[in-house]
Amino acid sequence: MSFLTVVYASLFYVAALVFVVGVANKIVQYSRSPAPLKIPTTPAPVTQSGVVFRLAREVVLFESLFKGNKWIWIFGWIFHFGLFLVTLRHLRYFLDPVWLPIELIQPFGIYGGMAMVAGLAGLWARRLLVDRVRYVTGPSDHLMLALLIGIGLTGLGMTFLVHVDIVSVKQFFRGLMSFHIQPLPADPLLLLHLLLVAILMIVFPFSKLLHAPGLFFSPSRNQIDNPREKRHIAPWAKRLEQ
Ligand code: HEM
Repeated sequence: MSFLTVVYASLFYVAALVFVVGVANKIVQYSRSPAPLKIPTTPAPVTQSGVVFRLAREVVLFESLFKGNKWIWIFGWIFHFGLFLVTLRHLRYFLDPVWLPIELIQPFGIYGGMAMVAGLAGLWARRLLVDRVRYVTGPSDHLMLALLIGIGLTGLGMTFLVHVDIVSVKQFFRGLMSFHIQPLPADPLLLLHLLLVAILMIVFPFSKLLHAPGLFFSPSRNQIDNPREKRHIAPWAKRLEQ
C-alpha cells in the first residue's frame, strides 16, 4: 500500500470523526440552549404542523432570506440547490449497487456543479464589491467561499479537463467504509479535491456552516404563535418551578 493511500485514508478517518462528533456535539449544545421567551417572527403559524410547514419553506425556498435580500437569496439558493444535486451525484461513490434515482440524477449533477460555482462566485463578488458588506467580512468568510469554490473547480476540472479513474476512487471510499483500505489513484486534481473536502469536514463543526443544523433550533422560526393559549416556560425554568 502506498504512502499516499495511507495518508489519505488516515486523513478521511480523522475528518469523518471530527465532523460527526463535532456536529453532534453542537446539536446537543443547541438543543440545550435556553429559549426563555416566546419570540416567533410574526405572522407565525399557530399550530405544530404549521411550524413544520414554515421550516420546510425555509429549508427548500429560503423564505425569510427572500424577504430580506433578493441578491443573497438568488445566489445562495443557486449555490445550495447545485450543492444538493452534486451531493446526490456523489452518492455513486459510496453506494453499491447504485440506486436508480441516483443513476438518473447523474447528468443533472454536472449542471449542479456549475450552478454551485456560479452561486458562490456571486456571493463572493458581493463580499468584495459592496462596500458595507466588505466592511463586515472577516477572513473566515473568505476562507469558506474559497474552500467551496476550490472544491467545485477541482471537481469540474476532473469532469471536463483531466479525467480520473472513478472506479478506483469508489473502491478506495468503499474500502474506507468497510475498513479494507484500497489504493487511491495519485492524480493531482483528485488529491487536491479530496484534501479540500477533508479540510471542509474538519472546519465545518467550528464554522458558520453550522447554520445548516442551526436553522432548526432558531426560536424565531420554530416556535408556535400561541402565547395567550399556553404559558411559555423554558425547560430549565420549569425545573426551577418544581
Ligand atoms: C469524499 C468525498 C468526495 C469524493 C470522493 C469526490 C470525488 C469526485 C470525483 C471523482 C469527481 C469527478 C467526477 C467525474 O470525473 O465525473 C468529482 C467531481 C465534483 N465534485 Fe467531488 N468528491 C467528494 C466531495 C465533494 C464535495 C463535498 C463537494 C462540494 C462541496 C464536491 C464537489 C464536486 C463538484 C462540483 C464536481 C464536478 C461535478 C461532478 O462531476 O459531479 N465533491 N468529485
